[in-house]
Amino acid sequence: MGFGSIISFAHKLIEERLRPGDAVIDATVGNGVDTVFLAGLVGMGGAVYGFDIQEEALEKARKRMAGAGFGGSSAEAVCGVKLLLRSHAQMEQAVPASLHGEIAAVMFNLGYLPGGDHTVVTTPFSTLAALEASLRLLKKGGVVTIVLYSGHEGGREEADAVAAWAGQLPQHSYQVLAYRFLNQRNTPPYLIAIEKR
Ligand SMILES: C[S@@+](CC[C@H](N)C(=O)[O-])C[C@H]1O[C@@H](n2cnc3c(N)ncnc32)[C@H](O)[C@@H]1O
Repeated sequence: MGFGSIISFAHKLIEERLRPGDAVIDATVGNGVDTVFLAGLVGMGGAVYGFDIQEEALEKARKRMAGAGFGGSSAEAVCGVKLLLRSHAQMEQAVPASLHGEIAAVMFNLGYLPGGDHTVVTTPFSTLAALEASLRLLKKGGVVTIVLYSGHEGGREEADAVAAWAGQLPQHSYQVLAYRFLNQRNTPPYLIAIEKR
């Protein structure tokens, strides 16, 4: 049977916690796989705030949304999904104040856009700023998932910085989990998940 993949395990953690009507964040929209997943879980009454610094990524996500039956070409008008051409480091400015402390989940999938420009990657400075902001935005019982890659240039430094940051979060306020395959070759991705107590 085998253990679930890194992405499917992240989805499982999110799925177990989200309810229709929740407000959530996709911090790295990319091809929109997580955006569509989140939109399906929170439904028409919910809200998904999606961030990416590449218009190409948002366009791919819009097409994926439409293909998944979430409506026409303007995903912003569909199912409470707002796709924003902004860095995730600005998520606190972009998410309405009424939702601060109410966000049920934040998903990060770091690295580069698959099928896009591999030199445009997430970087430790903005990733750590966005992670700090995520914890402030999260409600109690809310979860942050981070998929980390160390195979590309700068990836290992970013993954190490995120793991060091997550490992020092106070135990009384956060549960921090790592899910990784220890005997795979070729620097496989791994997952860090944080639940706010
Ligand atoms: C691995 S991809 C995300 C995959 C995506 N979750 C999916 O389901 O297809 C990483 C994405 O992060 C984006 N990115 C890089 N720096 C960013 C930043 N500061 N803020 C938001 N997105 C960023 C890249 O443009 C790229 O599209």
